[in-house]
Amino acid sequence: MKYEWWHEAVVYQIYPRSFMDSNGDGIGDLAGIASKLDYLAGTLGVDAVWISPFYPSPMADFGYDVADYTDVDPMFGTLDDFDTLVEGAHERDLKVIIDWVPNHSSSQHPWFLESRSSRDNPKRDWYVWKDPAPDGSPPNNWISVFSGPAWTFDEHTGQYYLHSFLSEQPDINWRNDKAKAAMLDTLRFWLRRGVDGFRLDACHFSMKDPLYRSNPVLDTPRHGYKNLGEYDSLEHIHDRGHPDIHGLFREVRAVLDGFSAGQPRFSVGEIHLEGEEWARYYGNGDELHMPYYFGMLHGDWTASWAREVVETQERVLPPGAWPNHVLGNHDETRIATRYGERRARLATLMLLTLRGTPTIYYGDELGMVQADIPPDRQQDPWGRRQPGLGRDGCRTPMQWTTGEHAGFTTGQPWLETVDPGGALNVQAQLGDPDSMLSLTRRLIEVRKGSNALRTGSYDAIEGLPETVFAYRRGAGGETVCVYLNFGDEPVRVPAEGTLLAATRSGASGPVDGVLALDSLDGAVLGT
Ligand code: GLC
Ligand code: CA
Repeated sequence: MKYEWWHEAVVYQIYPRSFMDSNGDGIGDLAGIASKLDYLAGTLGVDAVWISPFYPSPMADFGYDVADYTDVDPMFGTLDDFDTLVEGAHERDLKVIIDWVPNHSSSQHPWFLESRSSRDNPKRDWYVWKDPAPDGSPPNNWISVFSGPAWTFDEHTGQYYLHSFLSEQPDINWRNDKAKAAMLDTLRFWLRRGVDGFRLDACHFSMKDPLYRSNPVLDTPRHGYKNLGEYDSLEHIHDRGHPDIHGLFREVRAVLDGFSAGQPRFSVGEIHLEGEEWARYYGNGDELHMPYYFGMLHGDWTASWAREVVETQERVLPPGAWPNHVLGNHDETRIATRYGERRARLATLMLLTLRGTPTIYYGDELGMVQADIPPDRQQDPWGRRQPGLGRDGCRTPMQWTTGEHAGFTTGQPWLETVDPGGALNVQAQLGDPDSMLSLTRRLIEVRKGSNALRTGSYDAIEGLPETVFAYRRGAGGETVCVYLNFGDEPVRVPAEGTLLAATRSGASGPVDGVLALDSLDGAVLGT
């Protein structure tokens, strides 16, 4: 197997609004990111950044409503700033992955403004327009992920348009060849500018039932790991993931492959599906390089759960396909809050020692916690519509220093920082060997130096206490063993080798026969 950079990379997700503000307006920007490249590539040592959307946008969904796919919102800077950022990243051997939002544009995108201007506008069919049902109601029973009907009536032209998310995010009609060509061109625009890859937003939504049939209504709602309310009352067989999606992804892949000579380009899709259905998005190595695997985001936090998450993915992977794991992102509760601080350390040790590409969400390397934002201060449209589902709490500014607003801005930050004890920032954690940052840095360093961890095989180590999940990674003659105690009691397990990293910083040196792990402790042993 030939390994490309993305197989071996540690990816770091940046929410640009919240990473670093360069001009004091309280909102992070591209120049801010550029000013932190040494932190990313040097201090932390990650290999790639994925930057959430920075396109021109009315910000109805904080940038996931794109009004121009080939520009930068002035709030975030300019195309020149983007070029400077890519150049600076590449000088440091840091890859740049940008977010691409194929399912929907902003309702302020010129394409949609044209499309809604009249029924016979040439771009009418670039979006999904349907006549009302005979009683004037929406054309079918589809519901928006963010609640409410997935259809909005346009008085002016007397039809409904489809939006799987907000009404400010009309769905693009990927069955229209001209719309498709225009969208694929937007990929080429950024590939020419040197990006190394794309994260494809909500991308299995892009193809729907061509007959736009209603979804079956479930007798009892089926909730995933989040209760999405009425959305969970339907079986979503017609409004997303239509099999034609795979043909589309093959076309996307062909575009990327066309630019890959000398600079391999990469795609990772946001696909909230499971098992074999999820695995289908790899195609025969001709669709996405990988669909994100979200199994670690939720669960009962036992050793058997963690092992099952890992091995379910391994089981369904098509031949030659590459696994991946994530512990958090801009849509999920911060891991340090979701699982607790000590478990977040253990989870990070697991993330960075498993087979497959790990993605770290900004601030999780500090153990940043979820902010509790009062209802009247919430900004996320989802939380405003469905209390409890708001995502502001995981999007607070990155905490750099012990100073005001954690050094994120000289102005008033768009969301307040949350720093209990004043220790959740880079400055405070850098010199502290016990900090989450020190642990994360050490794990990245160990992974970088180990073929076994980057590309090696995975085998569970059997016969240990049931609170322990342990595995062996091997490549060439090198073996690394990882022991994770998910239990509340200390355990002693048979092990030999040299401690390369551990959740307890003091732990080092040779292990000769027995490894003692406190509750929620983990260790990485080279043998
Ligand atoms: C994805 C994004 C999320 C966004 C939604 C609509 O799920 O991760 O933040 O709100 O798509 O674009
Ligand atoms: Ca700014």
